[in-house]
Amino acid sequence: MSIVISPSILAADFANLGAEVQAVAAAGAEWIHIDVMDGHFVPNITIGPGVVKALRPRTKAFFDVHLMIAPCDPFLADFAAAGADLISVHVEAGPHLHRSLQEIRRLGKQAGVVLNPATPVASIEHVLDLVDLVLVMSVNPGFGGQAFIPATVAKVARIKEMIGGRPIRIEVDGGINPKTAAEVAAAGADTLVAGSAVFAGGPEKYAANIAAIRTAAETMKRDAA
Ligand code: DX5
Ligand code: ZN
Repeated sequence: MSIVISPSILAADFANLGAEVQAVAAAGAEWIHIDVMDGHFVPNITIGPGVVKALRPRTKAFFDVHLMIAPCDPFLADFAAAGADLISVHVEAGPHLHRSLQEIRRLGKQAGVVLNPATPVASIEHVLDLVDLVLVMSVNPGFGGQAFIPATVAKVARIKEMIGGRPIRIEVDGGINPKTAAEVAAAGADTLVAGSAVFAGGPEKYAANIAAIRTAAETMKRDAA
């Protein structure tokens, strides 16, 4: 699969979000990663469906909505209606992961399942046929700007094996920069979330920041057998 860069708007200027989304899309990002936090599942609060809806007319970019909320089920329809293209839920975000993923697909959206750093790979074995993407957290969720956890690389390689020939993307989120992007791409990741590394330096740097991550990942990319 081709490499996709998904800038996390958690690192954008929140007072200027519409322009920020347009700027990273114009700078080469195919996806926009939207981090939704509830102050309960993770120790931070960010944005809700109203913000997603307000951003939707600003760009045609694919909205990659990462829900860090529990329970997640009561809000899936709201994020779908707001304009999400893909909705990802954590393994721990409710008692019935399989049902949550079924519901995302029933709403007509792509479905993603998210593993925290401590979440075992085996926890997604029985939902693989319900997902379009596996999101591997390479930091503990809640904040941008944290250091990449090196054990993520081996975890990505195991997930790549488990996925086999299925058309499922492997996305990595947290501490991604050109160096760590190359490491996870070599292990099988194809979709890279980056907040700090994309938004550093302001709008005139976005294109170069995105290109640096993409080039590093493409150089190291391990294709499916
Ligand atoms: C963390 C979020 C990430 C975060 C990544 O809870 O899910 O998407 O914004 O930020 P960086 O790239 O700065 O680690
Ligand atoms: Zn995220």
